[in-house]
Amino acid sequence: MLSKEENERLTQTNAGTPAGEYFRRFWVPALLPAEVPTPDCSPVRVRLLGENLIAFRDTNGHVGLIDEFCPHRRASLFWGRNEECGLRCVYHGWKFDVKGTCVDMPNEPQEYGFENKVRIAGYPTCEYGGLVWAYMGPPQHQPELPKLEWARVPESHRYISKRLQETNYLQAIEGGIDSSHSNYLHATVDAFRLTDSYVEKVKNSNNLRAKYHLLDKAPWFTVKKTDYGLVIGVRRNAEEDQYYWRLTQFLLPSHTIIPYEKGLAIHGHCWVPRDDQTCWTWTISWNPDAPLSEEEWESIRKETFVHARVDPVTFRPIRNKDNQYLLDREQQRGSTMTGIHGFAAQDQALQESMGPIVDRTRERLGTSDTAIIAMRRLLLQEIRELQEAREPFAAQHGDVYWVRSASLLLKRDVDIGEGARDLIKAEV
Ligand code: FES
Ligand SMILES: [Fe+2]
Repeated sequence: MLSKEENERLTQTNAGTPAGEYFRRFWVPALLPAEVPTPDCSPVRVRLLGENLIAFRDTNGHVGLIDEFCPHRRASLFWGRNEECGLRCVYHGWKFDVKGTCVDMPNEPQEYGFENKVRIAGYPTCEYGGLVWAYMGPPQHQPELPKLEWARVPESHRYISKRLQETNYLQAIEGGIDSSHSNYLHATVDAFRLTDSYVEKVKNSNNLRAKYHLLDKAPWFTVKKTDYGLVIGVRRNAEEDQYYWRLTQFLLPSHTIIPYEKGLAIHGHCWVPRDDQTCWTWTISWNPDAPLSEEEWESIRKETFVHARVDPVTFRPIRNKDNQYLLDREQQRGSTMTGIHGFAAQDQALQESMGPIVDRTRERLGTSDTAIIAMRRLLLQEIRELQEAREPFAAQHGDVYWVRSASLLLKRDVDIGEGARDLIKAEV
């Protein structure tokens, strides 16, 4: 439970708010390079941290991210013409470069030199790891790029999708680090009921996660603070002398990594506030050792797991709250807990059902919410420190992001910190 003030403090991200200023100390994913594929291509709208922006790729290939509204009489630059290293407002012809500087003002006498004095917000961008990132904070605090493993693997080893979620970013992170929901929200009815045939199948499979979930219904949660954020451990009884551990990370300000199972792709998310009522869900699947397999591409195409199909302009999922996520009650009766297809839509349906900003003064948290409590505490602490002029350490130290999630069996007497040390160091 949070107080009303704490809830507002964490969920409001416009410029000038405590959390808004905190997010503005980090590079954040802004758009897919494919949205601005070639020099002088069409500009696109980007809403980020409550600001309406326009992204365009200039003649030299640089991506600009500037205020949407022309400073002359506030027309939208979305209608602008992208030409010779700048975006020209088609109302009266003022033109802006990628930094937001006005470089031409044809409807004013040249001798006034008026154009040299006019500029609009233009944020630094950077193409890195298959994304265009933006930095929207003070220039003197420009951070390092996070050395996330997925950003450093070859293109063929990675897939990134973007979708609109109609909730505040915090609700989405909470869903991402909520280790106990997958046995319910994402389960089949057979898995939930533990039918004989399901138990038989799982016992004989090498799906350790499913197997040890059968043996231990009440896992033990532990959270450790790190330089990048938190490492969250969930421990289950396994064989007589062993525990089954799943380790996942929360990386400041809003990245998460789902536990890695050797040989398979790893999946992670980043949630970026679009405004206080909506956020961008960035989902990344990557294989550190090899190109994504045909099976992984198939799961992406069929939307069975963490990716979902979206409208190509708005990035709103095809399954959304207006069509009840294409809920199939028949399927819910006989096969899956939700009757909604795909983990992404299942998460989104339940998180959006809580309202755009959940009232955290009315919740009743349990032990399975340990990581959520720790994440909120950490963010509140980081935000407070920034207000006291202490800059976030992680923003200035890209190296600390070089970590990997894990799932592993360990002897019961082995310290998890020791046992997993090498595993959770990413190697690229
Ligand atoms: S409104 Fe843009 S040039 Fe006049
Ligand atoms: Fe989920």
